Amino acid sequence: MSKQNVYDNDAFFENFQSSRNNDVNFNDCIETPILFGMLPDLHGKTILDIGCGMGQHAKRYSDMGADSVLGIDISAKMLEYAKEHSSGSNILYRQMAMEEIDTIDKTFDLVTSSLVFDYVEDFAGLMRKIHNLMKKDAEFVFSMSHPIVTAWDGVYDRYTRTETGERLYANLRNYCKEGLRKVDWVVNGYECYHRTISSLINGLISAGFVIEECQEAHLSDEMRAQYPALFGGTIHRPEFIFFRCRKNNLQNQ
Ligand SMILES: C[S@@+](CC[C@H](N)C(=O)[O-])C[C@H]1O[C@@H](n2cnc3c(N)ncnc32)[C@H](O)[C@@H]1O
Repeated sequence: MSKQNVYDNDAFFENFQSSRNNDVNFNDCIETPILFGMLPDLHGKTILDIGCGMGQHAKRYSDMGADSVLGIDISAKMLEYAKEHSSGSNILYRQMAMEEIDTIDKTFDLVTSSLVFDYVEDFAGLMRKIHNLMKKDAEFVFSMSHPIVTAWDGVYDRYTRTETGERLYANLRNYCKEGLRKVDWVVNGYECYHRTISSLINGLISAGFVIEECQEAHLSDEMRAQYPALFGGTIHRPEFIFFRCRKNNLQNQ
C-alpha cells in the first residue's frame, strides 16, 4: 500500500507552513472552529491526534486540560516544527504512518484528526484500527476534505467562471468514481483519495461507530466578502466534512 509523504517535500512544506501561519487561512477560519465546536470537555482525557502536523491542535488540547496528548504524523518536518513550537510536558509526538496505528499499545478517551484521512487508501480499515484504540464510550472527532472537493481529478476545470474570471459555480464530475486522485497542486503529482459520502458513513458504521453528528463547512457572508480571492469559492460547495462518533461498546462485548 503506497504512503505518500508530501509534507516532507520542501516546496509543499513551505507552502503549507506559510499558509497555516497566515492569520487568514482555511484551517483557522473554517476548519478549526467547527472541529473544536464538536469536541467534548477535554479535562482529564487521554487524546490521540492522527496527522498532528505542526502540533497546533495538540497544544490547544493540552491547554484545554487534557491529561495527555499523543500526536502522530508521517512527516519528519511537521514533527520537527511541532516539537519546537507546540511542545508541552504532557504532549508526545511520534513519527508514524496512520496505517500503522495498530502498533500503539494504549487506548484513548478521544481520537481526533484534522484533514488527514484524504491520504489513506483503506478508509474502512483505518476506522477499524481507530475503533480498537478507543476506550469504552470514547469519542472520535475528525475532519477531512469534502467528497465533492476530492472528486476533482485535475482534468476538468474546477470552476465555471464569468468572462472576467469570477467563480460562477464549482464543477462536479466523476463523483461516483472513487479512488486515487493525482493532480498538480503545489507540487506535480499530489495524491489523495476520493470517496463518496456513503463510503465514509458506511466505513464508520462497519467499524462499529455510532455517528452522533456530521457537519459540512460553511463560512459567513462577511468572511467571503472580506476575502473574496481566498474564500470566494466556498459558497459553491462545502470545503470540509466533519464527523463526531462514539465507540459502539456493544460490539466488543
Ligand atoms: C493538511 S495537514 C493537517 C495537519 C494538522 N492536522 C492540522 O490540522 O494542521 C495533513 C497532515 O497529515 C499528515 N499525513 C499525511 N499522510 C499521512 C500518513 N499516511 N500517516 C500519518 N500522517 C500523514 C501530513 O504529514 C500532514 O501533517
